[in-house]
Amino acid sequence: MGKIMAGNAVIDVIRARRSIRDFQDRQIEREQLLMLLEAAICAPSGSNSQSWLFTAIQNKEALQRLNQLVKEGFQRWTPDDDYPPKQTIGERAKNANFNFYHHAPALIIASNRANYENAMADCSLALENIFLTAQSLGLGSCYINQLRWLRDDGPLRDCLFELGIPKEHVICSSAAVGYAGHTPPPPARRANTIHIISPGDLDVEIFDAFHEKEF
Ligand SMILES: Cc1cc2nc3c(=O)[nH]c(=O)nc-3n(C[C@H](O)[C@H](O)[C@H](O)COP(=O)(O)O)c2cc1C
Repeated sequence: MGKIMAGNAVIDVIRARRSIRDFQDRQIEREQLLMLLEAAICAPSGSNSQSWLFTAIQNKEALQRLNQLVKEGFQRWTPDDDYPPKQTIGERAKNANFNFYHHAPALIIASNRANYENAMADCSLALENIFLTAQSLGLGSCYINQLRWLRDDGPLRDCLFELGIPKEHVICSSAAVGYAGHTPPPPARRANTIHIISPGDLDVEIFDAFHEKEF
């Protein structure tokens, strides 16, 4: 496996990508944005549905309006499960400096048909394409979940509708993109979550260690 992986451009980009939460005050180029969006729509989708919509917002005023609505939305929102970040978001959103997209210059919102079984899966695959393409272009990116959590918030949905996202769509996820404010440390070791059942034997091999040994 080591030989196959050595010098593989895709695996190098996958390995180097980190979530970035601090961005330079510098817009990304139009060409870069178009590459990110092309990467998104190249993702696989269930039955080749391609029913998603990617809404890229680079306008500061629109982003700040969204942030204000997100802040307000969380004050009337009740977490729908016990995911820890959801339990604390109400308090965090009260902070004057709260910015759900980490002040990135560009936010790409992925929405999809609300009654479509693969809405989240399709958009998530597209988002990963965006993250990896951003990495390959020297840009930083981060998965942003807050618009998903507030997907049923009336004032926020009205604003997103004004930005062209149809009412029949559900907000799946979004990606903050921009030039990173700092170079992040290499990714931490991943947990041991790999099992292999080899061609020649039925035993479950618990694959030990992430990249240090085999990769
Ligand atoms: C489904 C999902 C939701 C996430 N939501 C957020 C988010 O709302 N804000 C954020 O800053 N990071 C978010 N992240 C980023 C994760 O925190 C990050 O991927 C994880 O800590 C691993 O770090 P890495 O991406 O640098 O490898 C999310 C990631 C995923 C996959």
